[in-house]
Amino acid sequence: MVQDTTTGASAPTRNFFARKSVDEILAENHLEEGANFARALGPVSLTALGIGGIIGAGIFVLTGTVAAKFAGPGVVISFALAGLACAFVALCYSELAALIPVSGSAYTYTYATLGEIFAWIIGWDLVLEYGLGAATVAVGWAGYFNRVLHGIGINLPPQWTTAYFSEAGHGVFNLPAALVILALSLLLARGTRESSMFNNFIVFLKLGVVLIVIFFGVSYIDTAHWTPFVPENTGEFGHFGWSGVLRGASVVFFSYIGFDAVSTAAQEAKLPQRDVPIGIIGSLAICTVLFIGVAGVATGVVSYTALNVPDPIAVAMDATGAPWMAWTVKIGALAGLTTVILALLFGQTRVFYSMAHDGMLPPVFARLHPVYKTPAISQIVVGMLVAIAAGLFPIEILDEMVSIGTLSAFALVCGAVLYLRRNRPELHRPFRAPGIPWVPICGIFSCLALMGALPIETWIRLFVWMAAGLALYYFYGSLRTRRR
Ligand code: ALA
Repeated sequence: MVQDTTTGASAPTRNFFARKSVDEILAENHLEEGANFARALGPVSLTALGIGGIIGAGIFVLTGTVAAKFAGPGVVISFALAGLACAFVALCYSELAALIPVSGSAYTYTYATLGEIFAWIIGWDLVLEYGLGAATVAVGWAGYFNRVLHGIGINLPPQWTTAYFSEAGHGVFNLPAALVILALSLLLARGTRESSMFNNFIVFLKLGVVLIVIFFGVSYIDTAHWTPFVPENTGEFGHFGWSGVLRGASVVFFSYIGFDAVSTAAQEAKLPQRDVPIGIIGSLAICTVLFIGVAGVATGVVSYTALNVPDPIAVAMDATGAPWMAWTVKIGALAGLTTVILALLFGQTRVFYSMAHDGMLPPVFARLHPVYKTPAISQIVVGMLVAIAAGLFPIEILDEMVSIGTLSAFALVCGAVLYLRRNRPELHRPFRAPGIPWVPICGIFSCLALMGALPIETWIRLFVWMAAGLALYYFYGSLRTRRR
């Protein structure tokens, strides 16, 4: 028999809706000294982890795609809308991360509220966000890497830089994408402090590049490029006009993914109750301002029609007549994408750590290296699987899957805040989201609206992914879940 810790009632051995109470989760995570993660991260490192996870393929690539195909200069408004949706979610994440500062993030929050089967679904969803997200950004990284190599006269054989499932048809394996994943996995396995120092350095570098783009580019803005700011709709939903701005918001949403990865570092934070909310909200706020600045500059310096290229920000900077700027942007993008991959790979193993701790995954995923205090084996296994995905699949299949998986997890996090406020109002909340119940409700509706703007094929893939996850849960997870 299982004791449902929330209701106190007895339940049969198999209870898909068994919950762990918040108190139980907190007690479980007070592990004996030395068996836990190293607490290495302060507010600056956590904010840097967030920024490291956020500024990446979205701003360096998707800004151009959205401006040219959907919104024109209105991409600036798309960024503001997607940023607003993320702000609702970030406030909810902060409340839960301060209340339940463990590495499982949305997975753990769902376990405490909706029960085991929903927790599994969210854990499975987070594989899309973190694991597949890392693969997506690695493919973008490889694209920039190949262009930099090309710029210095080195050309890799195309079959080894193209995904097997790409439409080009001649691809065997995207080797650079797979190799960057493996290299960063080794770094993460080596230690959180080392990875964090590397991360802080690169975040500093890419922030510098983004600021140079904004402050250097602003004097080259020709306001004629901003007129009209929202080009007239072509007659088709999502093609310019206000529907294009909305469609653009659902695409640039990808740019904001990563602020939530801060919550997966809660067990490695020195003062999680104070610093994790600072990291989540601080990194999102900084990036929102920067994104709006970069999008404004890019569409102001050249016509939005010129931006449908893999390196739109470099193209915009080329137009200033200073060739060093395009190179600076390429190097900055390469560095920027590196830290995004780092943050996403980090997040994936921390979620797996919590899932394995609950018996939903094999115990090896909850094992910490005796010296490095990192889940080293898990990091390598995850790295190999993500590297295979990055080598085989093209970016256009990967990125929409990442967005839909992330949005569904975000909606459930907002729901978890509402649930706990109603059912456990007495819990001590070091950070309280303002505007209850409206902030979580707005968060849920914003996520659903952005999901609704994604194509039907992406929804079908999501259902197939979920069906596979539930089958796995049935055969492994539910049978092995540690009952208390
Ligand atoms: N926000 C991340 C990026 O844009 C995922 O690359």
